[in-house]
Amino acid sequence: MTSPPSFDLEKIKAESDGSYSLIASLAFNEVVVNNPYFAAGGGLMLLGTGLALARLGVSKGALFLYRQMLVDLEIPSKDKLYLWFLEWMSQYKNRSSRHLSVETNYIQHDNGAVSTKFSLVPGPGKHLLRYKGAFMLVNRERSGKLLDMTNGAPFETVTLTTLYRDQYLFGEMLEEAKKIALKAREGKTVLYTSWGPEWRPFGQPRKKRMLESVILDSNIRQSIVDDVQDFLKSGDWYHKRGIPYRRGYLLYGPPGSGKTSFIQALAGYLDYNICILNLAESNLTDDRLNHLMNHLPDRSLLLLEDVDAAFNKREQTEEKGYSNAGVTFSGLLNALDGVASAEECITFMTTNHPEKLDPALLRPGRVDFKVLIDNASEFQVEQMFLRFYDNEHELCQQFLHKMRQLKISKVSTAQLQGLFVYNKDDPQGAITMVETLGAPNTHSF
Ligand SMILES: Nc1ncnc2c1ncn2[C@@H]1O[C@H](COP(=O)(O)OP(=O)(O)OP(=O)(O)O)[C@@H](O)[C@H]1O
Ligand SMILES: [Mg+2]
Repeated sequence: MTSPPSFDLEKIKAESDGSYSLIASLAFNEVVVNNPYFAAGGGLMLLGTGLALARLGVSKGALFLYRQMLVDLEIPSKDKLYLWFLEWMSQYKNRSSRHLSVETNYIQHDNGAVSTKFSLVPGPGKHLLRYKGAFMLVNRERSGKLLDMTNGAPFETVTLTTLYRDQYLFGEMLEEAKKIALKAREGKTVLYTSWGPEWRPFGQPRKKRMLESVILDSNIRQSIVDDVQDFLKSGDWYHKRGIPYRRGYLLYGPPGSGKTSFIQALAGYLDYNICILNLAESNLTDDRLNHLMNHLPDRSLLLLEDVDAAFNKREQTEEKGYSNAGVTFSGLLNALDGVASAEECITFMTTNHPEKLDPALLRPGRVDFKVLIDNASEFQVEQMFLRFYDNEHELCQQFLHKMRQLKISKVSTAQLQGLFVYNKDDPQGAITMVETLGAPNTHSF
C-alpha cells in the first residue's frame, strides 16, 4: 500500500501568491482525491447525493418551466366538445399520428333497417400535431376504473398541451372544430333519445324533411307553424307575466296520418332538434322522465309519442304485478308542470287514442293546442297524388272518382304513400289498384 504523499501546507501557503483558491483546491485534493477512505465509499455517496440533488433541481426546474411555459386544456368525454374535437383531429391534415381508432354509429332507418357508419378518430395515447405553426401535444386517456354512468363506456379525457404563448390557439382550434361539426349537421335534424338519465344523439343527424312534403288537411300545417313561431317570439311576454315559458301541442289521430313526420319536418323548418321519448317504454320511470324533461339540449322540441301509454300502463302493470315500472299518469303531469327552464320548452305529444286521455292532461299549460290529424281528406289525396305524379291532373281526378265510387274514405296518408311508391312513375297502375286501399296494407306485402 502506497502512503499518501505528504506536504507542508504552511510551506505551500508561504510560497504561493496568497491565492486561497489554490490552497482550497489543494486542500480539496488532499481530502477527496488523496484520501483512500473517501475514494472508497464516502466519495461515491457524496457524488450520488450531488447527482440526486442536481436531478431534483432539474426536474423541479422543468416543472417550474412547464408551469411557466406550457398550458393544458382538458376536455372530458361528457363535454360535447369532446366529439367535435376528435372529429376535427381526424380530419386535420397535418396530423403526424397514424394511430386511429374506430367509432361506430348505428343508424336506424324509417323502415327499421339498421346500417352502420364508421368514423376514424385518433386513438387513445399521445399525439403530436402542429397547428398554425405551434406544436400541440394531444393526450387521449381512458380512465381504467371510472365508467361513464350514463352509458357504461369508459370515461375519457383529452388533454391538449401547448406553449403558454400559443394558448389563444386553443380557442381558435375549438371554434374551428365546432364549425366543422355544425356544418356536418347543417340542413340536418339531430334526433336525441334518452340514454339513462341523459339525452344522446341517436345515429347520425338526419336530412331535414321539407315541411311541404307532409300533406295535412287545408291549413292545419300553417296554423301550427304560425302558433309555434308566435310562441317563440313571445319570450318577454311570458317572462314579464311570470308565466312558465312553455307550450304544449297534442296531435291526435289514426296511425299513419303524418303526426310524427310533421313534427320532424317542423323541427327542421325551425332549425330545432328533436328529443323523442316513448312513454310506452317500460324502463322509463317517473324520476327519469322528470330529469330528462328538465335537461333538454338547446334548441330542441320534446316529442312524447303515444302519450296515452301513461294511462294504460297502470292497468298493464297491475296485471303484470310490477307496480313501479313505467311512467305513471301523475308522473307525467308532474314532469310537464315541473319544467323550469328559462329557455322555451315546446312539447309535442301524439296519440292514436285521444279518448283515453285524462282531461287533466288537456288542461292549458300542459296542452295548449290540440289538433286532429286525420285520415286523408280528398284535398290531401289530391295533393299526395300530384306530389308523386307531377302535373297529372286528369289522372288525379280519375283516381278520386274511383275512390268515391268504391266508397273508400278511411285511408291514411301512409297507405296512399305506400300505393304511390309501389306504383312509382305509374299513375295508371295506382288507379288500377285503388281498391287495395280498402284492405289496408295489401299492397305492401
Ligand atoms: N300527411 C302525410 N304527408 C306525407 N306523408 C305522410 C303523411 N302521413 C303519413 N305519411 C308517410 O307515412 C309514413 C308514416 O307516417 P308517420 O309516422 O308520420 O305517421 P303517424 O301519424 O306518426 O303514425 P302513428 O300514429 O302510427 O305514429 C311516413 O313515411 C310518412 O312519410
Ligand atoms: Mg307517429
